[in-house]
Amino acid sequence: MAASTLSSTSPSQLCSSKNGVAAPFHALVGKLSGTSPVAGKGRRGVKITCQATSIPADDRVPDMGKRQLMNLLLLGAISLPSAGMLVPYATFFAPPGRKGGSSGTVAKDAIGNDVLADEWLKNHGPGDRTLTQGLKGDPTYLVVENDRTLATFGINAVCTHLGCVVPWNAAENKFICPCHGSQYNNQGRVVRGPAPLSLALAHADVDDGKVVFVPWVETDFRTGEAPWWA
Ligand code: FES
Repeated sequence: MAASTLSSTSPSQLCSSKNGVAAPFHALVGKLSGTSPVAGKGRRGVKITCQATSIPADDRVPDMGKRQLMNLLLLGAISLPSAGMLVPYATFFAPPGRKGGSSGTVAKDAIGNDVLADEWLKNHGPGDRTLTQGLKGDPTYLVVENDRTLATFGINAVCTHLGCVVPWNAAENKFICPCHGSQYNNQGRVVRGPAPLSLALAHADVDDGKVVFVPWVETDFRTGEAPWWA
């Protein structure tokens, strides 16, 4: 450790005396010798050794204000992405809305156009059941009631046995699966197996003139049971 001759005005030099006292140079000299800060020996011959302790600019500890600012920036950098991840996580557990919103799907006709309720009723008579594209792209029957209004439910056409699309048989007033012969009544309730369950339902709402399918999470009105598909 090299001793050096120091200026009393340097604030970045640490000195020690032979007896182990360490302090800034000018404080130590004043304490030991009572003289002005001079390097080397004090008035009573105490050897003072000084070491340059200049702190590189990069190693200096930021003051409290800068620390708080950096903490805030760090907090923001962590919390923003976390909040972004929490939103879809929370919506996953939120029950689907009953009307409109992002949970609804506009019904599409055979060529992919939105189904307009008024236009549909002009071209489909009482008792009609015609396939449209419904929730998750599933084939879904839009039902016209006998009073020429749209039913408030759509019937998912996917057979609950092995997944064939079940056609409507107007003559039999049933849905009859061509794959293994399962049958469903005109509301999609299973009346003959091997299909174990009724066809799934979806709400069919009219929003701004368009037919919108919304997940059916309430009791199945055909069976009085909880919906197996929800
Ligand atoms: S897939 Fe419909 S009865 Fe088997």
